Amino acid sequence: MTIRNVTRRSVLAGGAAAFTMPRIALAAPTILRAEPVVAQILPIGDGQTAMLGLNGSTPGPELRLTQGARLDVRFENQIGSDSALHWHGIRIDNAMDGVPGMTQDPVSDGDHFDYSFLAPDAGTFWYHSHSRSWEQVEQGLYGPLIVEEAEPPKVDHDITVVIDDWRLQEDGTLAGGFGNRHDFAHAGRLGNFARALPSVSKVRRGDRLRLRLINAATARVFPVMMTGGIGKVVALDGMPLPTPRDISDIVLAPAQRTDLIVDVTDTLRFDFPTRDEPYELGRIEVEGENPSPITGDISALPPAHVTTPGTPDHELTLIMEGGAMGGRHTGNDIWALNGHSGLPDTPFATFNRGETARIRLINDTAFPHGIHLHGHHFFEETAGTLGDFRDTTLLNRGETRDILCVFDNPGKWLLHCHMLGHQAAGMKTWVEVI
Ligand code: C2O
Ligand code: CU
Repeated sequence: MTIRNVTRRSVLAGGAAAFTMPRIALAAPTILRAEPVVAQILPIGDGQTAMLGLNGSTPGPELRLTQGARLDVRFENQIGSDSALHWHGIRIDNAMDGVPGMTQDPVSDGDHFDYSFLAPDAGTFWYHSHSRSWEQVEQGLYGPLIVEEAEPPKVDHDITVVIDDWRLQEDGTLAGGFGNRHDFAHAGRLGNFARALPSVSKVRRGDRLRLRLINAATARVFPVMMTGGIGKVVALDGMPLPTPRDISDIVLAPAQRTDLIVDVTDTLRFDFPTRDEPYELGRIEVEGENPSPITGDISALPPAHVTTPGTPDHELTLIMEGGAMGGRHTGNDIWALNGHSGLPDTPFATFNRGETARIRLINDTAFPHGIHLHGHHFFEETAGTLGDFRDTTLLNRGETRDILCVFDNPGKWLLHCHMLGHQAAGMKTWVEVI
């Protein structure tokens, strides 16, 4: 895979980030105000970018709370059009899921909505607009949501690394045409400039870091090559791995997260491998030496509450269809799921609370898709055994994957492609848990 259309200067941009992402510890109710912001996405001196953000910045502030605590956020909309916030990956009350037209009314300009829920799982999550998301997320309406363990693993720094790409003009202006049908029919709106934005820019050699990678891009799948640290992958999509895994071939589909714990050996670099030289997404500089490094094995994070699926009550199939170079389907838009484009009037499936379903996902298209289920995590099934526990699963072209899910969270939940242009052009459906 190559990063296409990326300008040459972007390779040089790593160290020049003028990026700020305030951290809000959620001990008290907080206001998140969506509004136009000006961002320094290109290196300083290369022009600024008019975007949308929260409380003055994009990404919006990093929200932090402790597992089991309540998040109370008043979302104020001042962007000039409807919006709403979705809390991606968090297994919360359906009424707080932030999907306009399904779980709440759209929040109109000048209006507000109060989100309030208990955070059931510790892990790396994020929030983003779910209103014309292919446009508003692209414009910057998102931020990290970090739920800390009651007893977090001992590290010197807990660092969030937001990865995104943007389609920029020479002067830094965000290119328009968010609803471009040609983009939608292909891989989606790929940017021509990409960055990994760490929340900490300097560490010491020997420091132990927790790195929380979040792919906030609306279309691009990011392979990430990390150098300068030795460690393990400890969580995927917020959920702890039962056994930490060696770091190799990190790949994040849009909306996916990967948590690492690493010991710093050198300047920490995040690269996007390309056919020629790697494209630097970002780096964390090293200064000085940690005199008393944390030693000991990197062990598993405390396990999440997971109901192991039993024999499935439902065997279902969901076929991704359409797009450029794709076959015919009976839907009335570019993309379809089981022959239907866009949200059907009746759900793809209805489950009694607690039932298990195996869903065979078949990618019968020429493009990758990251399929996301709201309100639940599911197991990727590989060769009959339970694999990773995720909220978004990546299917490359032609690929088939079974997922197993215990539908134990009542409500109406979206199931859609997180290549947000694909979702906009038909690749979405929903399930109901009663
Ligand atoms: Cu990350 Cu339907 O969303
Ligand atoms: Cu897709």
